[in-house]
Amino acid sequence: MEKRVAHNSLFISFEGIDGCGKSTQLLKAARFFRDNGFEVVETKEPGGTMIGKHLRSLLLEEGAKIQRSEVLMFMLDRSEHVRQVIMPALKQGKIVLCDRFIDSTLAYQHDYSFEILDALNEFATGGLKPDLTLYFDVPLEVALHRRRQRSETDKIESRSNFYMETVLARYLKASIRDPQRIKIIPAQQSIDQVTKAMEAQLRGLIASGL
Ligand SMILES: Nc1ncnc2c1ncn2[C@@H]1O[C@H](COP(=O)(O)OP(=O)(O)O)[C@@H](O)[C@H]1O
Ligand SMILES: [Mg+2]
Repeated sequence: MEKRVAHNSLFISFEGIDGCGKSTQLLKAARFFRDNGFEVVETKEPGGTMIGKHLRSLLLEEGAKIQRSEVLMFMLDRSEHVRQVIMPALKQGKIVLCDRFIDSTLAYQHDYSFEILDALNEFATGGLKPDLTLYFDVPLEVALHRRRQRSETDKIESRSNFYMETVLARYLKASIRDPQRIKIIPAQQSIDQVTKAMEAQLRGLIASGL
């Protein structure tokens, strides 16, 4: 495990494709920690800072058209997010729960090698990595089905299945490469079952001497 920023602090990222259940489980994790007496900060990328919010709308407008710039905009957002939100909270001994972080870049910006993206991530974060990353693993069809039920059809990006299968493959590759940090949570089961699997990981972390 990475060296903690401060005693009691914990940095956990939530990863997976849209519709896998990240936001649902992040809320449950926040409740779990609060019930256990911890202070929790919930945040997300992109858009966890003012600059991030502007970038988010810029990305939605311009996004995919300008790939290198898109990567760099995510990095700018990440750098500011770490500086303004994540590090201050960790230094105060809080638990930071972050919806998407470095692994989203590895998965989605898959025109670029892990080598390049690792270097950019390291530069943007100053080397900060999550203590734990929960990767919610679902097949593409399940995620699409859930998103349709969430009735967000108009917001659903029209990314091809081929693109999304590559995203899933990259998430898997990142998880296999870094099994200490990234825990794969099978997320096809019911919300309660997924929460149980997640809480087992969280209890493990607390037991390991948070
Ligand atoms: N395990 C699950 N089984 C069935 N539906 C789920 C499950 N987890 C989440 N959902 C539902 O699927 C939709 C997408 O979940 P959400 O947490 O918003 O995913 P994400 O944040 O990863 O895009 C929501 O409507 C949510 O209620
Ligand atoms: Mg979400």
